Amino acid sequence: MSTPHNEAQTGDIAKIVLMPGDPLRAKLIAETYLEDAVCYNTVRNMLGYTGSYKGKRISVQSSGMGVPSMGIYSMELYSDYDVDTIIRVGSAGAISDSLSMGDVVIGMGLCTDSAYVSQYDLPGTYTPVADFGLVKLASEIMEERGVSYQTGVILTSDLFYTDEKDAVAKWKKMNVLCVEMESLALYCNAVRLGKKALTMLTISDLPLRGEAMGADERRTSFTVMLEAALRLAEK
Ligand code: ADE
Repeated sequence: MSTPHNEAQTGDIAKIVLMPGDPLRAKLIAETYLEDAVCYNTVRNMLGYTGSYKGKRISVQSSGMGVPSMGIYSMELYSDYDVDTIIRVGSAGAISDSLSMGDVVIGMGLCTDSAYVSQYDLPGTYTPVADFGLVKLASEIMEERGVSYQTGVILTSDLFYTDEKDAVAKWKKMNVLCVEMESLALYCNAVRLGKKALTMLTISDLPLRGEAMGADERRTSFTVMLEAALRLAEK
């Protein structure tokens, strides 16, 4: 069995999947942390690996950038490969002044400028939220490790470059913590299919101040979040 986007066969993918956006990040995670890692997907270079971490079978599947790409890969993991839990491990731009470069955000709920939810034809608005058990466990792991983190509302945006220069500042009024581009599709697919999802983000830029991390700093701070995510996956 395979899909148009994933050549993995039935059973190739673990029940729990870590999901970075960048395929090369997936490769690096698999090579650095997983024992006996096997690459199960190279279609469109959207690399996916399965191996074990401290004895637990775990997969790492890249999602690509944006809601449509996350929509495809997470949907197929849940519905075609019987995955139970997906933990997105990504980066985000800070909106709240309370966040600094390298801080971790756990996406408890999210708001969006995307139309993804319109497919459900609901008679009102919908609030995508993470699995509460995962939010709780992730928060405990951050506390244990002394990681500087916040749990709250994030923004999934379809727009990285936009004519509307004040968009991020407007979300700030509602205490939105940070902006990224994928979690909406992940949270909606999980709820729709009765599965679990969580997003963990490292702040890699401060859009309101025009500042961004250098490559080395990005790598180091991502490691802090990633090791917490692996601990979560292992539990
Ligand atoms: N991911 C990391 N930084 C981002 C930003 N400023 N906007 C959207 N997604 C991001």
